[in-house]
Amino acid sequence: MKAITFVTQKGGSGKSTLCISLAVAAQEAGHTVCILEMDRQATVSDWLDHRTAPGPEVAQIDATQIEAVMERLAESAYDFVFIDTPGVDSPGTLSAIRAADLCIIPCRPTPADLRAFKPTLAAVYRLEKRFAFVLNQTPPRSYRIRDAADGLAVLGILPDVNIVARTDHQDAIGLGQGVTEFNPKGQAADEVRRLWTWIERRAQAGTRGRMKHVEAA
Ligand SMILES: Nc1ncnc2c1ncn2[C@@H]1O[C@H](COP(=O)(O)OP(=O)(O)OP(=O)(O)O)[C@@H](O)[C@H]1O
Ligand SMILES: [Mg+2]
Repeated sequence: MKAITFVTQKGGSGKSTLCISLAVAAQEAGHTVCILEMDRQATVSDWLDHRTAPGPEVAQIDATQIEAVMERLAESAYDFVFIDTPGVDSPGTLSAIRAADLCIIPCRPTPADLRAFKPTLAAVYRLEKRFAFVLNQTPPRSYRIRDAADGLAVLGILPDVNIVARTDHQDAIGLGQGVTEFNPKGQAADEVRRLWTWIERRAQAGTRGRMKHVEAA
C-alpha cells in the first residue's frame, strides 16, 4: 500500500480535484484506492454524495485519527491511499505529510501560487518525504508555464504533463465523476491518465529503491 498526500496551503490550487480524478484514474488502471479526507470543507464527501459509480471508498478523518487509520490500512488490500488536506495550515497537514510515501503539491502557474507553496515544501523537506509538483489550471500554452516549470524544475520534481484549466474538471466533480469518466476521450482525461502513469511510477520507484537497498545490505 502506498500513500499519496495532496498538500499545499494555497487554497483552490486543485488538491481535491486532482485527488478525485487521479483516484478514479488509478481505479480504471486496475488499482484499489481509498481516499482519506482531512478537510472539513468536505469536497470529496460532497462529490461522493453525487456519485453513482462504484469506488473509491472515502473516509473523513482528523489529525488525531490518522496514525491509527494508516496502521489499519497498511494491513488492508488497498493499493493506494490518497489523502486530501485543507488549504490552510492545520495539525492534520503535518501528519498527512508524515503518512505519505509521496506528496503531490498542486500549483497554479501564478507568482502568488509559486510563493505560497514554500511552507509546504519546507515541511516536506523536514520530514524527508518524496514529492512532486503538478502545474494545474494552466493555460494551454503560455510563457507563464515555462517560467513556472523552470523554477519548479530546479526545486524538485515536475511531471511531464501539466493539467490545463478545462471545464471538464468542474463538470465531472459536480456529477460525482472523475474527469476520465465524464469525458473519456477529452484532453483533460488524457492529461489526468498521463499524470497518473507518472505518479504511479514515481510512487513505486521508492519501493524498488528501498528494496534494492535492503537486498544490497
Ligand atoms: N484543471 C482545472 N481546470 C478547471 N478548473 C479547475 C481545475 N482544477 C481545479 N479547478 C477548479 O478550481 C477550484 C478549486 O479546486 P479544488 O477545490 O480542487 O482546490 P483545493 O486545492 O482542493 O482547494 P482548498 O484548498 O479550498 O481545499 C474548483 O472550483 C475546481 O473545480
Ligand atoms: Mg480541497
